[in-house]
Amino acid sequence: MPTDMMVSPVTTNEPEQGEMERFVFLIHPLDMRDVIRYEPQAASKREPLVRKMLEWMPSSITAHVRGIVSAAGKRAEGWFGLVPFLPSQFVSFPHEAVYEKIVAAARLGQQRGARIAGLGGYTSVVGDGGVTVASRLPDMAVTSGNSYTIATALQGALQAAHRLGMELDSLHCAIVGASGSIGSVCARLLARQARQISLVAKNVNRLAQVAHEIHADTGKTAEIFTEVGPGVREADLVITATSSTGNIITADMLKTGALVCDVSLPHDVAREVATLRPDVLVIEGGLVEIPGPDMNFNFDFGYPPRISLACMAETILLALEGRYENFSLGRGLQLEQVEEISRLARRHGFRLAGFRSFDRPVTDEEIAAVRERANRARRGGVRSFAVGPYFKEAHESTQSL
Ligand SMILES: NC(=O)c1ccc[n+]([C@@H]2O[C@H](COP(=O)([O-])OP(=O)(O)OC[C@H]3O[C@@H](n4cnc5c(N)ncnc54)[C@H](OP(=O)(O)O)[C@@H]3O)[C@@H](O)[C@H]2O)c1
Repeated sequence: MPTDMMVSPVTTNEPEQGEMERFVFLIHPLDMRDVIRYEPQAASKREPLVRKMLEWMPSSITAHVRGIVSAAGKRAEGWFGLVPFLPSQFVSFPHEAVYEKIVAAARLGQQRGARIAGLGGYTSVVGDGGVTVASRLPDMAVTSGNSYTIATALQGALQAAHRLGMELDSLHCAIVGASGSIGSVCARLLARQARQISLVAKNVNRLAQVAHEIHADTGKTAEIFTEVGPGVREADLVITATSSTGNIITADMLKTGALVCDVSLPHDVAREVATLRPDVLVIEGGLVEIPGPDMNFNFDFGYPPRISLACMAETILLALEGRYENFSLGRGLQLEQVEEISRLARRHGFRLAGFRSFDRPVTDEEIAAVRERANRARRGGVRSFAVGPYFKEAHESTQSL
């Protein structure tokens, strides 16, 4: 990563009008593509060497976010604190080594005036969903940002479902990562209205606990799966939010006309789905437009200007509100937190960003085309879209639809 990006200015030139609220948001590269995007010289090095270099690198500040002005007239600025690990390193390294870098990155933000730290990507997935990190930062607020991620993922998924002609009460929904911080709350909220619910993860006991909560809340019996393929095969709507290192949902697994909302980073849906399944709509979950006419992240996430991940948006919202208290921590998030953060988002003028799929925007025409292809496939009895041996044949038949 470029050293000039590591050293950010400590001072700010923001006009002095009202109090400036300050946050730090922790980020990390998702894959080698990201590392090369931040540091082109890494392209000439072998991956094991780059991994070693990341391991040795200390945490740093990569950018100064400026110009956030909310609809309620509140202002905020912040910093991106880089925790230099790849997802697989977060998962495989001893927790202590990872916590140390996370806390160090938050402290760098605090030195610049930040009073809340948002744990982006795997900085909240590692260990216990931010609880230990928060205990090591007693003089700073900490959030994983998961409450607003849940709110925006569900809002986006239901809007997209509506465009595809699907309404929740007639849908079979599958939640992959259903025992996780994000997945469990998505499952409980969807179960209130959905026709049928499937819960997918690896640990059956944790899934059973979520199924039990759903039954207590709605009287419905959720089906449990420990394998992704069978778990999503019959689903009309799939929400996926896992701590896997990606590509666990492949083209042969999905039902004709399915909608998938991929909240995970790195993404769970394999890129092949974009080309092999023209009858399926995959959208990225949890993207938000941040207010402020001159708002600038001063950092390229690969999204259009002003578009942020919902977990970052939650950190900004809590700062704008001056609520310097721990918010979305651990796996047992409360439904009330999701409602509360949605209320703050409305107050400060945060809006759901347009749909994106595989790193690019999705147009209304493209959604209509997916709907049409799925309808034709259903009418033509092309059930084999989702079934292995017939898959190639089905794919070929879509080319002429
Ligand atoms: N888009 C955004 O704004 C945003 C914001 C925050 C987080 N995220 C992303 O959302 C994802 C989930 O975060 P979280 O905090 O909810 O994580 P979490 O609490 O650690 O939960 C992860 C879930 O994934 C399941 N899982 C892991 N590997 C799996 C596999 N191979 N197949 C099926 N299930 C698997 C786990 O099940 P077991 O317990 O059985 O292993 C668990 O249910 C992460 O990728 C994170 O980076 C995105």
